[in-house]
Amino acid sequence: MNITLVLKDGQEVIVDGNAGDRLMELIEPSDIPVIFACRGAGLCGSCRVKVSDPSKVSPPEDDELDTLDTSDPETEVRLACQVTLTPESDGLRVTLL
Ligand code: FES
Repeated sequence: MNITLVLKDGQEVIVDGNAGDRLMELIEPSDIPVIFACRGAGLCGSCRVKVSDPSKVSPPEDDELDTLDTSDPETEVRLACQVTLTPESDGLRVTLL
């Protein structure tokens, strides 16, 4: 499935993903400058992204919501290291924050 990454300068990069992949796994192999300061532990908040449709990815766990400092389970702002693609994720747009 295709996932569109929208970089901070507005450039768009389409990457190929599968259900079960974490967004971090799609971003890390590319040259896209995203910092994963805690190496995917979900603690630092450095990998914040905005997803175009929260219903198309895995819902956030309580620990992710704590790091994001929100209680909204449908928040569009997510941690790339904690988001897992689902079979419905094709066409998702992910804006790097
Ligand atoms: S890498 Fe630290 S929260 Fe994602």
